[in-house]
Amino acid sequence: MGNNYAVIGLQWGDEGKGKIVDLLSEKIKLTVRYQGGHNAGHTVIIGDKKIVLHLIPSGIIHSDTKCIIGNGVVVDPYAFLKEIKELNKFGIKTEGRLYLSKDAHMILPFHSKIDAIIEEEIRGDQKIGTTKRGIGPSYEDKAGRRGIKLSSLYNPEYLKRELEYLVNIKNLFLKGIGKEPLKSNKIYEELMEIREELLKYISDTFPIIQDAKEKGETILFEGAQGVLLDIDYGTYPYVSSSHPTVGGIFTGSGIGPDANIKVIGIVKAYTTRVGKGPFPTEATGKDEKTMREKGKEYGATTGRPRRCGWLDLFALKYSVKLNGVNSIVLTKIDILDSFEKIKVCTGYKYKGKTLKNFPTESWILEEVEPIYDEVEGWKDVTSGITEYNKLPQKAQNYIKYIENYLKVPVSIISTGPDRKETIIVKEF
Ligand code: IMP
Repeated sequence: MGNNYAVIGLQWGDEGKGKIVDLLSEKIKLTVRYQGGHNAGHTVIIGDKKIVLHLIPSGIIHSDTKCIIGNGVVVDPYAFLKEIKELNKFGIKTEGRLYLSKDAHMILPFHSKIDAIIEEEIRGDQKIGTTKRGIGPSYEDKAGRRGIKLSSLYNPEYLKRELEYLVNIKNLFLKGIGKEPLKSNKIYEELMEIREELLKYISDTFPIIQDAKEKGETILFEGAQGVLLDIDYGTYPYVSSSHPTVGGIFTGSGIGPDANIKVIGIVKAYTTRVGKGPFPTEATGKDEKTMREKGKEYGATTGRPRRCGWLDLFALKYSVKLNGVNSIVLTKIDILDSFEKIKVCTGYKYKGKTLKNFPTESWILEEVEPIYDEVEGWKDVTSGITEYNKLPQKAQNYIKYIENYLKVPVSIISTGPDRKETIIVKEF
């Protein structure tokens, strides 16, 4: 098994990755984020303190861990500095241990504006339900070879020229829909005001990762969002614009497959989804309400109520195979404590036929009928349990059911938000 770890959400995000990254970080020297932006929301609870991180890896909480925001991430420099301020307020030092890849692209203020315009005024009823943080529009500019990399702050003349070109293109769109055009000079001046502060963090992160790898220091790759929100493998177009899948690590951080990365898949004991898009196992009525209220299923970034439903093993099998998952961390099992019966989806039927493979087409997913099995609920308290054999037998049965179906061992079980509320089944 590998020396390094990837922590990847196997559903539609919000599986509880933050807590697990935080837990593992005690043994980790370098934590790397490789995709997404400040659309993520990782809640880390330490004693009575609660910190919500959107962009900076959760590893920052541990003073011995270095953190990298890799080239595959899109960085809103204003959101970045706001998060730094917040961390510093909590007494967490950031300078000298947090590195922003010079090759990461920026999310500029107009990206979030355009995100909102497309969602509200153009897509309307067909909206994706984005976080409106400008993620998609920034990745669009990156792929369109007109994006602004953080490294352009090294060279203000270059930045000014590239910004002017980008703004001209954006204005074609904005003027076309009757909006006020952008002024590239203003954006430039505002960036120059925070340039010095950003330069403290912008680095060539490639040698930092490579150096850690050569020294055999354990590196943790922290995924944001989840596999089913991947731009290629997710439920397109209801996805984010990055690669939360394991492949994103190679393009988004500066390391190759010889890094021996052990893939830890994070799975919530039920399923949630924020925003629009197909959700075959979505629950209704009392069941959904119990999951949402007990699980505090409200977006950490936008505060939106999350849609809740049963565990979808058919979708999970797809995520497991796609990412070569080695072991599973099962989170929030305690949220199911009060259920008499627990449904698990083991397959889909589409137009009367049982599907062999997970379909990514949203129009198929909208119509599939989940095939459910029912597992007996344990109707007992699992919150705060720290030893596997103290779990009610029926809760153990639920975990075994998941392992048997997915053919991957469950190594950690989370029984509450606190670091201590964890069962280590097998050390990895
Ligand atoms: P975007 O990433 O803001 O473009 O949003 C695209 C889709 O991904 C929307 O359905 C969002 O709700 C969803 N999304 C983005 N980030 C997260 C996350 O961290 N957790 C869960 N869903 C997310």
